[in-house]
Amino acid sequence: MEKMTKDIKKKIEELRKKIRGHNKLYYADGRPEISDARYDRLMEELRELEQAHPRYMSPDSPTQTIGAPVPEKFKRVRHTSSMLSLESVNNEADVRRFDRTCRKETGRDVDYICEPKFDGISIELVYENGRFIRGSTRGNGVTGEDVTLNLKTISGVPRCLKAEKPPRRIAVRGEVIMHIKDFQRLNKEQAGRGLNTFANPRNVAAGSIRQLDYRITAQRKLHVYCYQILDLSGAMPRTQAEALETLERLGLQASPGVKHCRDITEAVFYHHDLESRRDALDYEIDGVVIKVNNMDYQKKLGRRTTNPKWAVAYKFEPRKEITRVENIVVQVGRTGILTPLALLQPVEVGGVTVSRATLHNMDQIAKLGVRIGDWVKVQRAGDVIPYVTEVVTEKRTGEEKEFRMPKRCPGCGTPVEQEDVFYRCPAGLACPAQLKEAISHYAGREAVDIDGFSDRTIECLHEKGLIKSISDIYTLKRGDLLKLERWREKKTDNLLRAIESSKDVPLDRFIFALGIRNVGKHIAALLADKFGTLEKIASAGQNDLLALNEIGPEIAENITAFFSKTKNLAEIKKLHKNGVVIRERKKARTGKLAEKKCIFTGSLKSMTRSEAKKLVESEGGEVASGISSTTDFVVVGEKPGSKVDRAKKKGIKVLTEEEFRNRLGL
Ligand code: IVH
Repeated sequence: MEKMTKDIKKKIEELRKKIRGHNKLYYADGRPEISDARYDRLMEELRELEQAHPRYMSPDSPTQTIGAPVPEKFKRVRHTSSMLSLESVNNEADVRRFDRTCRKETGRDVDYICEPKFDGISIELVYENGRFIRGSTRGNGVTGEDVTLNLKTISGVPRCLKAEKPPRRIAVRGEVIMHIKDFQRLNKEQAGRGLNTFANPRNVAAGSIRQLDYRITAQRKLHVYCYQILDLSGAMPRTQAEALETLERLGLQASPGVKHCRDITEAVFYHHDLESRRDALDYEIDGVVIKVNNMDYQKKLGRRTTNPKWAVAYKFEPRKEITRVENIVVQVGRTGILTPLALLQPVEVGGVTVSRATLHNMDQIAKLGVRIGDWVKVQRAGDVIPYVTEVVTEKRTGEEKEFRMPKRCPGCGTPVEQEDVFYRCPAGLACPAQLKEAISHYAGREAVDIDGFSDRTIECLHEKGLIKSISDIYTLKRGDLLKLERWREKKTDNLLRAIESSKDVPLDRFIFALGIRNVGKHIAALLADKFGTLEKIASAGQNDLLALNEIGPEIAENITAFFSKTKNLAEIKKLHKNGVVIRERKKARTGKLAEKKCIFTGSLKSMTRSEAKKLVESEGGEVASGISSTTDFVVVGEKPGSKVDRAKKKGIKVLTEEEFRNRLGL
């Protein structure tokens, strides 16, 4: 027996040593000796052994870190060719002037490729014989910083290009960005841990790429969108459209949402259309880049000192405005954390009236130096709650007042407790403010999704004593609801129907809905995948949880603490009793549309509906008939129905048939 455990320990140590060696070869020396698949198998083997023998777990195991030495500062590298910037224009007249020059200087009609202008950080990626050998920041355009190690941690930067016969050398330009949802999640985590929050997704992307310790970059969820071939051995594509296709074919993620426009009028139209859809996108963009499609014309047009003459950035309306902080109040969150919120003199920021902005925590208030009565700059990014970026100190009158955290919870009067920079009401679900937040979270779109169960409705039902806990949602009676003011039959029946259909809920959504501290959508899905049933998750010990790569001691502790409370278990039991059925996790599907749910409307030109369905399914996706909150995108053919408008209203992505085909690489 003793011998066996010794053997296992030895095996684990050997594996760790081997993996560390390969890490060094890959990350530090840039000359891997084994394939990615072989590396993954080694890691898997180690992970399994560690899971089966948790006492040999070690925080410095490669399963817990990605190990390689940290450089002291970045090397400077020379770019393949200058990384130019773009001339910006803000109005249609200037865009038309740009078009006139293009047509005059080429002597031809010109067609354009329009791409979203990503608000991120520009980088160069170099591949030789299909292998990623170097990546750098733009720097001064001629030389940049060698951030190869950091870029290697991003899944959108493949270690190897996909092609069988990759080009001997290709240098590509792209933008590193963070999606808005990931930015929100990161800021929430940072605030929850009492760490600095970031002003916007761009700052996080820039900060993450310039980390000296790539392990920090690896923890950030970043994306790379490529939009230019800077250099290619062999023949260059003849058009920008072909260049983007080439990038995709090689396994790089080319700019999404690209539009080929026959003339400048179409480009202007695309700009307006994209600007109107800006808030529904997953990422921040600040305009449209209009590029001459034909590469020969691009050459003919040439460049100025820092800008090409064949492209222009047609910017959107800025979304930062100045307004006054009328008051700072405190909001009680689901977990009892008190968040200061600035109540603003209403101001329009990029077409939306903003009257409140989050201030995150006391640390942020101190950092900004914001006081009640101050004039501040507010910014809006996608559907994120607007935030204050700075105080306009020149406008101070001396009348401004400092904000102090209240001593008692504004929701229930319980004395507030302080933990580092954040303050918490310890009353839990006995605090009405926390209870309402918990119910709202449970019913939310990404949780069990009860359509129409708004915060106002929750407030009203709580006030009337109809819901005192989450499980009370399922005991609401038609008769009771109809007695409420302004609750007519239609509204009542719609809500009851939505409640009824929320009873069948996938495991990951249910776990997320429970509102366990620090268990977001991603961790919930991970738990569902790994354990398969609620019972197994509820009975998992710290070590079982820690065996999952992305779960650290804090989250593991939150999970076990949640399931050890009899009150929580009783509430889950009541939910079951009231008809909630948890659908267990199916094995993840794979393919270009893995786990995506889509809808078709209108007739398609290039295929029949049943061919389209088969295609989607063969790529791991699913075709649904009606729009719901779980729909990922809608494909629009000719003569579409009303689904398009509903999808747009709900902020669901709408794809043309061509865009759909592009996604599938057709
Ligand atoms: S093309 C020579 N395309 O916008 C052409 N740039 O100054 C170079 N950007 O620094 C740029 N999205 O970082 C291009 N689809 C896109 C882009 C894009 C974002 C950035 C790029 C550049 C800045 C404009």
